[in-house]
Amino acid sequence: MIAATAVSTGRMILRGGRPLSGEVTLRGAKNSLPKIMVAALLTGERCTLRNVAGVADVAIVSDLIRSLGGEVAEVEPGVLSICAANVRPMERAVLKTFSGKSRIPILACGPMLARFRESPVPSLGGCRIGTRPVDFHIRALQDLGATLHDESGNAHLTCERLYGNKIHLDYPSVGATEQVILAAVLAQGKTELANAATEPEIMDLIMALQKMGAIISVDVDRVITIEGVPELHGYDHAAVPDRLEAASWASAAAATGGRIFVRNARQVDMMTFLNQFRKIGGDFAVTSDGIAFWRREAGLHSTVIETDVHPGFMTDWQQPFVIALTQASGVSIVHETVYEERFGYVEALNRMGAQIQIYRECLGRVPCRFGQRNYQHSAVIVGPTPLHGAEINIPDLRAGFSYVIAALTAEGESTLTNTNLIQRGYENLIPKLHALGAEIVSTE
Ligand code: EPZ
Repeated sequence: MIAATAVSTGRMILRGGRPLSGEVTLRGAKNSLPKIMVAALLTGERCTLRNVAGVADVAIVSDLIRSLGGEVAEVEPGVLSICAANVRPMERAVLKTFSGKSRIPILACGPMLARFRESPVPSLGGCRIGTRPVDFHIRALQDLGATLHDESGNAHLTCERLYGNKIHLDYPSVGATEQVILAAVLAQGKTELANAATEPEIMDLIMALQKMGAIISVDVDRVITIEGVPELHGYDHAAVPDRLEAASWASAAAATGGRIFVRNARQVDMMTFLNQFRKIGGDFAVTSDGIAFWRREAGLHSTVIETDVHPGFMTDWQQPFVIALTQASGVSIVHETVYEERFGYVEALNRMGAQIQIYRECLGRVPCRFGQRNYQHSAVIVGPTPLHGAEINIPDLRAGFSYVIAALTAEGESTLTNTNLIQRGYENLIPKLHALGAEIVSTE
């Protein structure tokens, strides 16, 4: 069954010092699959989603759809059949069971408003990497005609119906862009969304909606236009592969000096990453089946990274990549411009022997909302530094995978706890590590 492949209680002991080499296979992107599942709420017709990975958010959204009266079944390995014909309005009691687990449930607000003219607003979960508010989401739904009622913390939204509008996001938020698209496809009239995010996972959602009958265009200058239609039909869609996982394995190959073939990785989704990968001394070979990654020379070189929205260097790529930078000769700089607190993992790396200093200054030229606001959002990494094993508690998904790479790069044993957070985004982590020759002393 597609449920998150648990890494059990979450304690893992790894022994590092050996290159990781071999093959891993990507399935559908963690940041695409659950959103396309939410889109199935917009129709009473059956939807088929393919290339489905067993990650936590897929299981959470499957349970959410079922709790609303919908059907979700795995009709064959990696293929979900979803039918929302019998879905009921979302009750707060139902929502409470999902609060704090994931950021995805808030994306159901649009479909619930479109079908039932009402929706509670969930309190969210997701990785602790900053405040992660939802003001853009709520403001966009209000712009589309919804009214927010906030009675003693039990916020909910109502509307007569949703109407197209001109909306401008203060920041190209992925979630808020998805919120507008999912709400506007059945609205009356046209919606123009300016300063939208255009990540490949959003394009994937748009392609699934287009198959359903939606009329959505991605125009110049980050404007997405949605022409509301009276009804939508089912989809049969295969999700894009997970480019964030692909970059994580590439970083592992560079950091440990191995060679990893990532089956289903696509160059078109990773071009900015591939440029930086090559600049630090990595190399890669693209085939129709995937991409092989390895360290080109004996040593790695330092570089300067500024994270940004697509097509820039993704914020989710920086944590694994920094592990490779600890092994690079020279001084590297990372300016994190998407999240205000995404270097929390650095402290444990320094305990392992890394030399990373974080700063509140913007160490780069990308316009950033966090400069001089006391957010430690720039990092300087001095390398190469030999790493040694340590005891590490995992704070979030991408940092968690980074610690796995660091532990496998380090000499000696590392004990990682709370590794079940990694399952949120990395399907079959343990079998993949075994396939690459990782020395896993124990998992509990
Ligand atoms: C998505 O999160 C991804 N998660 C994140 O991946 C990814 O890092 C992020 O997009 C950026 O690419 C999923 O798709 C499930 P945002 P999302 O809205 O949509 C601020 C991973 O590891 N903001 O683009 O929540 C926000 O605080 C995860 O796979 C507001 O201020 O991200 C942040 O600073 C981590 N108000 C910035 O925008 C809002 O209403 C970008 O957030 C919404 C967002």
